[in-house]
Amino acid sequence: MKDLNTVRKDYSNDQLSEEHALENPFDQLKTWLSEAKEVDDTDYNAMTLSTINPEGYPQSRIVLCRELSERGLVFYTNYNSSKGAQISQNPMVSVSFFWKELERQVRITGKASKISAEASDAYFNSRPRASKIGAWASEQSAEISSREELQNQVTQIEKRFENQEVPRPEFWGGFIIEPQSFEFWQGRPSRLHDRLRYNLVQNEWNRSRLAP
Ligand SMILES: Cc1cc2nc3c(=O)[nH]c(=O)nc-3n(C[C@H](O)[C@H](O)[C@H](O)COP(=O)(O)O)c2cc1C
Repeated sequence: MKDLNTVRKDYSNDQLSEEHALENPFDQLKTWLSEAKEVDDTDYNAMTLSTINPEGYPQSRIVLCRELSERGLVFYTNYNSSKGAQISQNPMVSVSFFWKELERQVRITGKASKISAEASDAYFNSRPRASKIGAWASEQSAEISSREELQNQVTQIEKRFENQEVPRPEFWGGFIIEPQSFEFWQGRPSRLHDRLRYNLVQNEWNRSRLAP
């Protein structure tokens, strides 16, 4: 990896001015998500989620944002996974999006909580059968002895639910992240990027510009 310290890109696609950025950060995020979708309609909703582990280290991984409402961002996972356990201990999380082609990043901090069982059911029921089986078969984040062990679990679950609908396991569902801050980053030439931050103060979104 000899070129790590020489590879360079100048960002010049767009700009983010106070004049054009939307007043409400949820609207701004919706706009950027739909523009990202136009460029590539797969994984444009992928976001890096960071939680804090019991030793105090942040732990990051990608999850898919499945809904963006006025309240927050929803993703689905196994509630007993590492991330699920970490959120139950400390609900303060951060997420970030990166859209390479658009030279854009969004960072969000917020508080995560479980969505209702009914809302999780509705999403779970919309998934392909194989994904439903997978949710039951995978004790997400637990150590397993082999790929075979996982495959055996799948076979057992398939048998268990043969000729029936696969219900949502109680240990699987959605979290909603209610944002406390957003930062929108647009790459600009010579590293003089645009950064607009929105902080929630007494139910109002205050916007400020940050040095790049
Ligand atoms: C593109 C992409 C999308 C993913 N989406 C999800 C998701 O929506 N939910 C999920 O639980 N894991 C998702 N994963 C897997 C997670 O990154 C992670 O491996 C898994 O959730 C276990 O994380 P944990 O052990 O920290 O809990 C995705 C991974 C990638 C690369």
